[in-house]
Amino acid sequence: MPESEKHTVKPTKGLKYTVCTFGCQMNVADSNEMSAHLERKGFSPTPELEEADLVLVNTCTVRQQAENRALSLLGRLKEWKRLKTGRVVVLTGCAAERIKDEVSWRIPQVDLTVGAKDIDKFGEKLEEFLLERFDYNAETRESFNASTNHSPSPAISYVTIMRGCNYTCSYCIVPAVRGREVYRPLETILEEVQAGVAGGSKEVLLLGQTVNSYSYENHNFASLLAAVDAVPDLKRIRFMSPHPHYFDAPTIEAMAGLTHVCEHVHLPVQSGSNKMLKEMKRNYTRERYLDAATALRKNIPGVAITTDFIVGFPGETEEDFEATLNMVEEGDFSSAYCFKYSPRPGTHAATLADNVPTALKEERLSRLLEKTGAQADRNAKKLVGTLQEILIEEFDADGAAMGRTRGSWKVKVKGQAGHKIKAGELVAAVITSADGRSVEGEARPA
Ligand code: 5AD
Ligand code: SF4
Repeated sequence: MPESEKHTVKPTKGLKYTVCTFGCQMNVADSNEMSAHLERKGFSPTPELEEADLVLVNTCTVRQQAENRALSLLGRLKEWKRLKTGRVVVLTGCAAERIKDEVSWRIPQVDLTVGAKDIDKFGEKLEEFLLERFDYNAETRESFNASTNHSPSPAISYVTIMRGCNYTCSYCIVPAVRGREVYRPLETILEEVQAGVAGGSKEVLLLGQTVNSYSYENHNFASLLAAVDAVPDLKRIRFMSPHPHYFDAPTIEAMAGLTHVCEHVHLPVQSGSNKMLKEMKRNYTRERYLDAATALRKNIPGVAITTDFIVGFPGETEEDFEATLNMVEEGDFSSAYCFKYSPRPGTHAATLADNVPTALKEERLSRLLEKTGAQADRNAKKLVGTLQEILIEEFDADGAAMGRTRGSWKVKVKGQAGHKIKAGELVAAVITSADGRSVEGEARPA
């Protein structure tokens, strides 16, 4: 690099960073980890792009649209870099992994690329880069103290329990960009949960691509849940996302028996057609999925099940799609994320003809959204009049307290006179109104 391009500020103290995260909670957790590295190197966070010296763009590639959004931000960052010398763009995550060999010529405004498979090496790579770019000074580095709580809400800690995926769902690019499963040691997970609780968290979200395939020494997912449940002062445990194939009796028993595990499961089904599930290589049938849902409902009264659907997968006929609509009825979901199939380069499905026309994909998507939306409304209305425990996560633009029930319904909570609700507080509230989009409640004395 020419000397003139070297940043003049030595060391990194006083420099600011902004992180833009696309995609799932795994990416949010990764962004938190990378933020911690940046802070250990002396950067401090700012929400203002204009104030930032370094922008980290953590990308998603699960659908083309997700990748496009990141590319469009990178386009704007080209201009942002021009406005002030020394500004730095760091590209990370799943899309970065997919296109890393093209970045230098396609997106020259990027200074450092760290793909999703190298996330564990982010600290090293950042340090190498800083030494070169900033004349970074190791002595000064030691004097900075990074804060450890990087969860998006102080009430919740995101803890990654595994990375990668050993599945090969035919539409999915994740195994290619994140690699095979690697499990974090149980002790490390527990230490992170304890640190979260010490920092004020009441809830932990255990993260992984297929969390319930967790396996470490003699531990499986059910025994991990039991170990986390025993962490003193932790009030709630959630996990995201389990795979239906591994949703076995011990997991359901653990969920039913452990007091802190919330009564909510996000269990992606993708399709209601056995033919499509086979083509998608999901390794379960609709009957097997519904058996897991029935067992969950029998053992955990009031459990909320949410899901993901893909419409317009290659070869999906009207009959297959109707099986998906019927799955909505039978699954009785609290809510569902519905996606149009998006071919991803290098996946098996991308070799099949993408033969459901776009207009038909869109029509199916809107029919599915109508059905899942009406179901979410009906299920939300069942909450009206019930007393719910709500963990306050944040305040909305009008200053109203927002939190979640144990069943993961997002609720706007009106406080009691004389008591100002705080973030991180567990509030008992009666639900006063509800539909699929918005639920409101009023706090009651504990
Ligand atoms: N096209 C559309 N949706 C996809 N998903 C994953 N890959 C694709 C794809 N190629 C959806 C699945 C998954 C969610 C995270 O994203 O529903 O559960
Ligand atoms: Fe993708 Fe399937 Fe792995 Fe989920 S289980 S990350 S959908 S390959």
